[in-house]
Amino acid sequence: MRAENPYLPFRAELLGLRQEAPGVRTYLLRPRGLREAPRAGQFMMIGAPGVGEAPISVSGFRKGLLMHTVKAVGRLTRWLQGLRPGDVLFLRGPYGRPWPLEEARGRHLLLLSGGMGLAPLRPVVGLFLSGRLGARRLSLLHGARRPRDIIFKEELSAWQGQGLEVLLTVDVPEEGWPGRVGLVTELLGELELEPHRTVAFICGPEIMMRFVLRELLIKGLSPRRLHVSLERRMRCGLGLCGHCQHGVWFVCRDGPVFSYPQVRGLPDGLL
Ligand SMILES: Cc1cc2nc3c(=O)[nH]c(=O)nc-3n(C[C@H](O)[C@H](O)[C@H](O)COP(=O)(O)OP(=O)(O)OC[C@H]3O[C@@H](n4cnc5c(N)ncnc54)[C@H](O)[C@@H]3O)c2cc1C
Ligand code: FES
Repeated sequence: MRAENPYLPFRAELLGLRQEAPGVRTYLLRPRGLREAPRAGQFMMIGAPGVGEAPISVSGFRKGLLMHTVKAVGRLTRWLQGLRPGDVLFLRGPYGRPWPLEEARGRHLLLLSGGMGLAPLRPVVGLFLSGRLGARRLSLLHGARRPRDIIFKEELSAWQGQGLEVLLTVDVPEEGWPGRVGLVTELLGELELEPHRTVAFICGPEIMMRFVLRELLIKGLSPRRLHVSLERRMRCGLGLCGHCQHGVWFVCRDGPVFSYPQVRGLPDGLL
């Protein structure tokens, strides 16, 4: 049934689960009443009566099925961990402004993520691989705390074989980790960049985004070609309650994706 009121939750059945990392799972859902297909970078409000509601990015959308990759940190996200296939939860959305995919056309697209920040960027990779993005080149630079915290591990190695440049790094190495140790910003030194033909989509902890932005500006990328996805606590998700206010913006309605000039220097921000 179509839910015409965007505030009205609709049901979604859990079809499957995948453990990505400790405390992180990808949930495959069949929504009943999605008004429109979500676009890369948008989010859904996921909820359960008597438990709560939280904004969660769409990490995949295919043939009417939704994927969400969720870290258990609080009330709702821990409750999700107890779900089994066949269980039902409630969704609202899709909400928010997506990644500006049109800017990637003909350009080198840099995806830079930290931790769970890879989840909203995953659909962008899918579009690139299917040839629908039109980007000249795609490089994914991702950092996690420990090797075991890297999400989408199998896909990351598959993507490497499919023509993507994938560079990974961790803060804290573990036994058997042959890769890099350090910050995502350090990975930038390994890339050949043509700054005037490059656009960047960035998602991760704000401190990581701040350093990445600084480095990209030093490398000569245009500020308006830098886009970040911001996280704020939300209630309505629709631009009505003001809970997610960040300077002049409501993150749920005006974001979560912003260009750097939009959020540069806002009073309560790190960027
Ligand atoms: C646009 C957007 C997209 C997101 N996408 C994802 C995603 O794809 N995957 C994902 O895992 N997460 C995502 N998040 C983050 C997720 O929405 C939050 O982690 C959310 O708070 C989880 O809800 P919860 O009920 O499980 O946790 P909560 O009970 O809300 O608790 C979460 C954390 O916040 C603390 N906390 C609780 N209340 C407050 C308060 N009033 N002030 C400050 N801190 C408080 C808690 O102690 C806990 O550490 C996204 C957030 C946004 C805004
Ligand atoms: S969450 Fe209500 S205005 Fe953004």
